[in-house]
Amino acid sequence: MASHATRAVGVDIGGTGIKAGVVDLEKGVLESRRVKVATPPGAEPKDVLAAVTEVLSTLEVTDSIPLGVAFPAIVKHGRTLSAANVSEKWIGFEAEKFFEEGLEREIHFANDADVAGIAEHRYGAARDQHGLTILTTLGTGIGSAMLYNGVLMPNSELGHLQRAGHGKDAEAYAAYSAMEREELSWEQWAERLQWYYSYVESLFSPDLFIVGGGVSKHADKFLHLLELKTPIVPAVHRNNAGIIGAAALALG
Ligand code: BGC
Repeated sequence: MASHATRAVGVDIGGTGIKAGVVDLEKGVLESRRVKVATPPGAEPKDVLAAVTEVLSTLEVTDSIPLGVAFPAIVKHGRTLSAANVSEKWIGFEAEKFFEEGLEREIHFANDADVAGIAEHRYGAARDQHGLTILTTLGTGIGSAMLYNGVLMPNSELGHLQRAGHGKDAEAYAAYSAMEREELSWEQWAERLQWYYSYVESLFSPDLFIVGGGVSKHADKFLHLLELKTPIVPAVHRNNAGIIGAAALALG
């Protein structure tokens, strides 16, 4: 039974990369190497499936190990309902079924930031945390996971808050991809993050912010530049939180 699993495979599909690993679910750490391939241009379903098949075959995992797959979109009842950084074909798409048929095995399927939130709750910075924790992933987009007393409120999508007067999603302005695209310095990017986290703070009055995504390994370059009422810390599992959380879905 999946609920008794002590190891599972996690696949974290992002707008830029697809990462996977075998996870020790007791410790919440990767027990294999981390495998990564680029997300295929356009991120169409069949190409993403081929890339996921490739990472799983590189990991040489068998079907007896539970598999969790995380995806950068709203996920409800196995369907993907949005497509900010992937092909529009995912909108209203039976994604879980598509992966199960294509991989010829059962999977667990959820939003990428939500699973990172689950990983940090079970094994990281949100452990034993009371009140409202908001984890954000800063990558190609901005993902969010909202946890209240450890209970996830899924599909919060706080990367799509609007910047008043600019007609732009917050993620287009403040995601790590915006820093790379516009060649911003850490200080310039931190000004945008200051706007973003102050805004989220004013809406939700959280007790803790956790910052995930690839750039969280450089947290010492920008987190200290932010002035917030809410404590803000990097994800303990950095960019592996998505892989670990996807695998943890197998625990139910
Ligand atoms: C998507 C979210 C996702 C985030 C991080 C956003 O563009 O709408 O579903 O969690 O990117 O990948």
